[in-house]
Amino acid sequence: MKIAPSILSADFARLGEEVAAVDRAGADYIHIDVMDGHFVPNLTFGTAVIKAIRPHSEKPFDVHLMIDPAVPYLEEFADAGADIITVHTEADKHLHRSLQVIRGLGKKAGVSINPGTHESALEPVLDDVDLILVMSVNPGFAGQGFIASQLEKISRVRDMIGARAIELEVDGGIKPDNVKSVIDAGADVVVAGSAVFSGGDYTKTIAALRAAVD
Ligand code: DX5
Ligand code: ZN
Repeated sequence: MKIAPSILSADFARLGEEVAAVDRAGADYIHIDVMDGHFVPNLTFGTAVIKAIRPHSEKPFDVHLMIDPAVPYLEEFADAGADIITVHTEADKHLHRSLQVIRGLGKKAGVSINPGTHESALEPVLDDVDLILVMSVNPGFAGQGFIASQLEKISRVRDMIGARAIELEVDGGIKPDNVKSVIDAGADVVVAGSAVFSGGDYTKTIAALRAAVD
């Protein structure tokens, strides 16, 4: 299991230190939630912030774009230091093109679906992605409750992936007490925002997430 702490729940006044702290605490990826106040009802950060925190960790930057449109900004995110760039099926009229652009920039291409979106939306792009991100909350805010109906969807997406080299990441409401069900359903990367950053001792919380699965 890989753990991707979401810096949406970090202390923004000390963002560089927070990134370094979760890196030291055992994060596999740094999950960065980019929101535009249009695709989702919240605003967060853009490429300037990603560039500023880039020197604070060598772990892959897992950039979750909740912006519509995403295409005009993909190159800027790649240049800012993103390693994985994930776009939403719901925000993209030309999904296939966006994924090709991301790969063309030498980055890993991710595709995400909201809780209300059927996994069939992923089918046409299965051979064009390196990562699938299944949302287990409606995107926009940290600290929401895990939507349990997504567990069956995770299993179905795992089956769809088959032998392809695609990582299956799940995002939203994941805590030590439900992470095992997410992994058992077929996920291999979990995002954890409030669980990690509100827990005080980041090393302890990340270890608790791993221990819950072992
Ligand atoms: C939600 C974001 C998530 C969020 C996760 O829109 O995509 O990454 O920060 O936060 P928690 O783990 O608190 O649900
Ligand atoms: Zn996210």
